[in-house]
Amino acid sequence: MHKYTLLNFAVPLHSQSISKIIMVDVILGLQWGDEGKGKIVDYFAPNYDIVARFQGGPNAGHTLYVEGKKVVLHQIPSGIFHQQAQNIIGGGVVLDPVTLKRECAIVEGFGIDVRKNLFISQRANLILPTHRALDKASELQKGEEKIGSTLKGIGPAYMDKTGRNALHVGDLLQKNFTSQYINLRMKHQRLLDNFDFKEDISAWEEEFFEAIELLRSLNIINSEYYINNKISEGKKVLAEGAQATMLDIDFGTYPFVTSSNTISAGVCTGLGVAPQKIRQVLGVTKSYCTRVGSGPFPTELDNTIGEELRKIGSEYGATTGRPRRCGWMDLVALKYACMINGVTDIVMTKADVLDKFGELNVCTAYNIDGTETQEVPIQMERLPLQPVYKSFKGWNSDISSISNANKLPNETKNYIQFINEYLGTPIKYVSNGAGRDQLILL
Ligand code: GDP
Ligand code: IMO
Ligand code: MG
Repeated sequence: MHKYTLLNFAVPLHSQSISKIIMVDVILGLQWGDEGKGKIVDYFAPNYDIVARFQGGPNAGHTLYVEGKKVVLHQIPSGIFHQQAQNIIGGGVVLDPVTLKRECAIVEGFGIDVRKNLFISQRANLILPTHRALDKASELQKGEEKIGSTLKGIGPAYMDKTGRNALHVGDLLQKNFTSQYINLRMKHQRLLDNFDFKEDISAWEEEFFEAIELLRSLNIINSEYYINNKISEGKKVLAEGAQATMLDIDFGTYPFVTSSNTISAGVCTGLGVAPQKIRQVLGVTKSYCTRVGSGPFPTELDNTIGEELRKIGSEYGATTGRPRRCGWMDLVALKYACMINGVTDIVMTKADVLDKFGELNVCTAYNIDGTETQEVPIQMERLPLQPVYKSFKGWNSDISSISNANKLPNETKNYIQFINEYLGTPIKYVSNGAGRDQLILL
């Protein structure tokens, strides 16, 4: 009854105008990152007028294949190779001008004009060379307890944002930018002295000042107005998440997380769009699980099966090259991620990686001191947590060239059906290879 009351209330209110303004879809990660978001954004980008990153920075590494060539994007949205889409780096992003400059050169190598297709929010926060130094100094000081950060300066840059010290892209256009830079740099130097950090970063600074010249010449926009005006005109926006739910600053496995809101709510704060403008939230998960860096990972396989997953799945970080920790799919964490994000549909990637495994496991509960739970506890690294598994027979066949869902082996269908029922959220697409078109609609 309650459901019908809500529907009846919502529909007649302004059904016409709602269908016109609900134009923001989201693609984001549901695990600990590297789920294949880049490939999925690239696949759907032709349906959108705008593709926008809303958080994170060069800690992201989103892999796509363009004209058969591998490209890894760190700062630029993954819709950049589609000429009809305007790509926006939103205000919630932390931006390293040096990485951006390098990436612009790569993208231009494919004949893309970044002055035409790339837009940068004046609110995006700048990552300075000293942020990278502070990241490194902080990790060194933590020693064994380090976060395993990407060392791209993400944490220190977001600390300056919340500490109200940050420099924005918009500041680059002010005459006093250099003196603002020097003031902040001096603050950072005092912190670095406290860490007893002695590395010479003058080469990084030289690169930074060269790179901001390029940044100044790009389209720097008042992105909140820009995006909302486009939405009012009926344009379609795709928001691209970086990192993933279990790395979210508020809802992830704190403190082993990144420093931004990676979840769907981050779209609102990172782009300045209102929550009711969000339509679909497409959550991306691997068909197993990986994590790079430190922190709890209940289904981690520190054995030959984990090594096989790493080998077959080429599980090495796209940003840092570090080997990714591998394990079985964790449905407890995945269901939590669906809840937090309001996921409407799921894309399950890397199904082909499981082709040769005789037995597959998925975690359906955590056993903590003899008590089973289906809830994600906080600070799980402090708990004696054991995954409870359900086993499946593997499909033992090559699914990488299948394009029709009916042709999937029964064992693959069983695996998918169980996950669907457990989550109560449907897997709508299965990715069965890194290639651009290897995606099966279920
Ligand atoms: P992102 O950060 O979420 O964009 O993911 P990454 O690019 O860091 O890592 C995903 C890796 O898996 C990349 O090397 C992709 O090329 C690759 N990949 C994506 N989808 C698939 C798939 O379905 N099968 C296989 N074998 N590889 C995939
Ligand atoms: P994409 O977008 C996987 C991890 C780091 C570390 C923690 C904090 O490619 O999925 P940070 O540099 O953000 O301070 O590091 O978060 N991490 C990622 N892991 N994929 C990513 O991005 C990540 N971005 C950060 O390894 O554990
Ligand atoms: Mg990645």
